[in-house]
Parts: sequence; structure tokens; C-alpha cells
Amino acid sequence: MEMSAPPVAALMPVAVRPPFVLVRGEGAYVIDDAGRRYLDWVQGWAVNCLGHSPAPVVQAIAAQAATLINPSPAFYNAPALELAGLLTENSGFDQVFFASSGAEANEGAIKLARKWGQLHKDGAHEIVTFVDAFHGRTLATMSASGKPGWDVLFRPQVDGFPKARLNDIDSVKACLGPKTVAIMLEPVQGEAGVIPATPEFLRALRDLCDAQGLLLIVDEVQTGCGRTGTLFAHTQAGIAPDIMTLGKGLGGGVPLAALLAKGAVSCFSPGDQGGTYCGNPLVCAAGSAVLKTLLGDGFLAQVRRAGERFAAGLAAISLAEGLGEVRQAGLLLALELGRASAAEVVELAREDGLLINAPRPHCLRLMPPLNSSDAEIDAGLALLQASIRRAHAAAGLA
Ligand SMILES: Cc1ncc(COP(=O)(O)O)c(C=O)c1O
Repeated sequence: MEMSAPPVAALMPVAVRPPFVLVRGEGAYVIDDAGRRYLDWVQGWAVNCLGHSPAPVVQAIAAQAATLINPSPAFYNAPALELAGLLTENSGFDQVFFASSGAEANEGAIKLARKWGQLHKDGAHEIVTFVDAFHGRTLATMSASGKPGWDVLFRPQVDGFPKARLNDIDSVKACLGPKTVAIMLEPVQGEAGVIPATPEFLRALRDLCDAQGLLLIVDEVQTGCGRTGTLFAHTQAGIAPDIMTLGKGLGGGVPLAALLAKGAVSCFSPGDQGGTYCGNPLVCAAGSAVLKTLLGDGFLAQVRRAGERFAAGLAAISLAEGLGEVRQAGLLLALELGRASAAEVVELAREDGLLINAPRPHCLRLMPPLNSSDAEIDAGLALLQASIRRAHAAAGLA
């Protein structure tokens, strides 16, 4: 029977999408409505940390769906309590607020810092953020972001986010004033193309915050939950932030994010923060299943090993094809192409059965599942190299 064309015009065109419909996911692979399989290194934008429909998450959701889906945040529920316990026991933070997206968690972090500023810093409310940062798509998180062009979209911006440059402590100091309450950054700028804050810079920020009585906020929406080879990326620099946000991998594919704070900073009162879906048992059950998997014996060590194998493979491709830098933090990777060919490579790779992402015109970002096998990594790298060769040959660059 012939299928009628899906009514794509009924969706707002907020993304440029390829002309197929995805119907099924299996681990590292996703399958479209024509039955084509793609090795997926986008994974819902680094959301499916255990791949598509992983058994622990499927089982947790199925069991919880049959038990209790959403009693409202006005009541305690067991999965939220369990997940909050797991998160606080395995981090340096004392309290958690659950949200449904990274932007919502970051919005909460901004509100928490502003409330703390009202209580303890004479109403200080400015939060220093960074050029090229990405914190989400609400008005406040867009204003906190430093994505080129976003300063004029949807004007007026939310006030109070002076921008410094990553890894330039003097540029941070230049942004400080009597209204400053916090500094907020991604330990690795993901959307900017996997640009790491150096450990020295992160430690200098911690020292600066301590000296000036400011809060340090890390946005680990992309880097958290094992993506960079440790449960949270900031621990690699040996720093203890005051506030952290998580999202993406935390739910293993379902909408779950979290705002975590040290006890001394956790100053929300009833009514300050909330949301109909916040901390519902369905998603929290998924979150606990993910976290227990990440904390399982040897899981994170394997992420680190896989990341090194992946990076070595990318470096070999870069050398063979005359490309640029490879950047890697665990299984968050980027390859500089040395020319603005990323969109063509993404398209050709898709034709060949590999899904990848181009955060910048000259840069590819790879976000494979954290449980990728060596065979999957090697197969994907071979597809990637072939696509790059084809794209550059077509442009006369080979
Ligand atoms: C570092 C960072 N923060 C926040 C967000 C926003 O998360 P969400 O899209 O779930 O709102 C993202 C998404 O890419 C991100 O990478």
C-alpha cells in the first residue's frame, strides 16, 4: 500500500530537515521510513547517551508508566527522590531541582543566582558569560549565550550578561563590577565546536569567585553524565562549582534536566521555581536507570578508552586528508575541516548512512553513544573519511 506523504507543512520550519522520517532507533543506529539504517553520531544532539531505546531506560519507563506518570510537583514521588539522592551522593552538590530541558535548568540557575544576590549581595544580579557560549533558547538563556547573531534576535535581550572570552581571565575581570553575582560557563563549549576551558582557567575562575564572593555556575548540559569520560567534566579540573546544570544524557532520550546547588546557595523558597512536568516520576525513573548504568563498573573508563580510539582515528583522517585540528573530551569530538565544507560533508555522510552534525561551517561535531563498540567507531570513521573525500573532491579540493 502506498503511504501518503507526511504533512511536513504542519510543522513550523525551525530546522532544516532531510526528506525522510525516522521511525525506529536501535542502539547506535536509527532507521528511516524507507528502511534505511544510519549510524547515528548525532544521537538526539548528545541526548541518547546509551544509544537509541536502551534496555535499562525502556524497562524503567515501561514499569513507571504502568505505575505513576505524573502526580504533579506538588507531591513527593519515589523516582524523583531516588534520582535526587543518586545525583547528590555522586556530586559535590546538596540539592536538586528537576526540569525538562537544559534551557529550563539554566533559567533556574540564573534565577537562583539572582535570588542569592538579592539575599547576600545587595541585589547584585549580573552573570558573566562567554563569547560563543550556548545555554539554551529561552529569552534569558539566549541572552546568556554568546552565539553570533543572537544579540539582535528577539530584541530586547534579557539584561545582565556581560561577555568575557573563554580562557582569558583578564577579560573576565574586566566584566566584574558591584552588580556581578556569578560567572557561568560550559567546561567545554559544545555548540561552539568542542572548545575546552583549560583546567588552569577553570581554577582561576574558582579563585576569582572565592576572592570576590561570586558564584561559579557550570553548564554541564552537554558535558555532564559521562560525555567527557568522567561523570561531570568540571571534576577533571579539580574545581567545586556552586551551581551545576545537567540535561541531555541525564534522561537517556527523555526530557529531563537538573539544576544542582550547594546547600549554602540553594535559596529557593516555595513558589520561586517550578513547572508542571518538573521531576515527574516517568522521566526520573529513566534518569535513575541512566545514572546507575553510567556508575556501573568500568563504564566511564570505557568511555575514556573509546574516546581515545575515536580521536586517534580522527587524527589519522585529518592527516590523510590534509584537514585541521581534532578536539576531544571523552566522546565529545570535533574535527576542523580547514575549509567551509561541513554542510556538504554532513549531507554526503547521510547519503552514505552516517549522521553527523556541523556546529560551524568548517567544523564537524561527533556525539556517538557512550557505549559505542570499537567496530561501530571504526565503521563510522571509514564512512566519515569517504564522505570528506567525496565532498572535497566535488569541490576540487582533494
Ligand atoms: C551547554 C548547553 N546548555 C544548554 C543547552 C540547552 O539544552 P536544551 O536544548 O535541552 O534546552 C544545550 C543544548 O545544546 C547545551 O549544549
